[in-house]
Amino acid sequence: MTPTNGLVRQLDRQYVFHSWSQQGQLDPLVIAGGEGCRLWDYAGNEYLDFSSQLVNTNIGHQHPRVIAAIKEQAETLTTVAPAHANLARGEAAKRIVERAPQGFSRVFFTNAGADANENAIRMARSYTGRDKILSAYRSYHGNTGSAIVATGDPRRVPNEFARGHAHFFNPYLYRSDFWASDEQEECQRALQHLRRVIECEGPGAIAAILLEPIPGTAGVLTPPADYLKGVRALADEFGILLIFDEVMAGFGRTGRWFAFEHYGVSPDLIVFAKGVNSGYVPAGGVVISDAISRHFDEHMFFGGLTYSGHPLAMASIVATLDAMHEEGVVENA
Ligand SMILES: Cc1ncc(COP(=O)(O)O)c(C=O)c1O
Repeated sequence: MTPTNGLVRQLDRQYVFHSWSQQGQLDPLVIAGGEGCRLWDYAGNEYLDFSSQLVNTNIGHQHPRVIAAIKEQAETLTTVAPAHANLARGEAAKRIVERAPQGFSRVFFTNAGADANENAIRMARSYTGRDKILSAYRSYHGNTGSAIVATGDPRRVPNEFARGHAHFFNPYLYRSDFWASDEQEECQRALQHLRRVIECEGPGAIAAILLEPIPGTAGVLTPPADYLKGVRALADEFGILLIFDEVMAGFGRTGRWFAFEHYGVSPDLIVFAKGVNSGYVPAGGVVISDAISRHFDEHMFFGGLTYSGHPLAMASIVATLDAMHEEGVVENA
C-alpha cells in the first residue's frame, strides 16, 4: 500500500499512545522524511524544523556520515551485552571524555536523558552515603522514577512516588521570585535562598544538587553570570555533589560542547543525551569525575541496563562527534 498522510494518521490514531497527552485530543503532523533542517510529509508539504524535533537534532536530519556509520555498525554487530568490551563503545566514551573539561575520566551509557539522570542520582547517593537530591522548580529532568520527581515543573506533581527530593527557586529575573530588580541582586538572593534550603533540609542529608546550567524546557533561562559559581561554592562548603544536566543544552547548542563552560565552573557528574548523536539512535549517559570514578573502582555500582552502550548508538555518537568537530558545528552555533 502506498503510504499517504491519511493512512499514517489513521494508523497513529488507532494504535499509538502518545507522550504527555490527552489521547482523544490529538491530530499529529505526519512526517515522512527529512534532510538537514527540512522535513516533509507524503503530500509534498515541506516544513522547516525550527524546533530540531525535541531540541535534539543538533546536526540536522539524515547526516550522511552518521547514517553510513550506523549502516556499517549494523553490518558488523547490531547488539552486544554491556559487560563486553566493544570498539564503538570505547571510541564513543573516549570522544565524550575528550570534550569534557579536565578531571573527568569515564562514561556510563544509558538509553536516554531520564535514565542518565536516574543513574547520576544513584551514583551521587552511593558515593556520598546521603539521600536527598535538591533541584530547581524551573527544570525538567525526564520521565522516570527519580528524574520526574527531581523535575521542578508541574509534570512532577502527578508522578511524585520517589523519595528524597526537595526543590528550590532558581534565578529568573523576568519573573523574579526574590523581588530583585537587577541581575546581581537576583543572583545573590537566589544563592541565599539555596543556602537556606540546604540548611533547612539538613546539609548532611543532601547527596547532590541537580541543575540544568541553562534550564531548557522551562524557557531557556540563562542564569546570572555568577550563579553557577555560587552553587558550586555552596556544594563544596557542605560536601554536596553537583550534577549538571546537559541533556538539552549540551553538545553544541550554546556554542560550547557543554553549556556550563560559559560560567567557569565544573560539576562532579555531567548528564547528557539528545545532541550527543542528534537522537539518530536513542542514547544518553553520565560523564564521571576522576574522584567518583576512582570510588567505583573499589565499590560496587548497583546499576545497569541491557542496552548500556548499544553499538548502533555508539557508532552514531562517534560519527556525530567527528562530523561536528570537522564541520565546526559548535563554533558556528
Ligand atoms: C534537561 C533535560 N533533562 C532530561 C531530559 C529527559 O531526556 P529523555 O526524554 O531523553 O529521557 C530532557 C528532555 O527533554 C531534558 O530537556
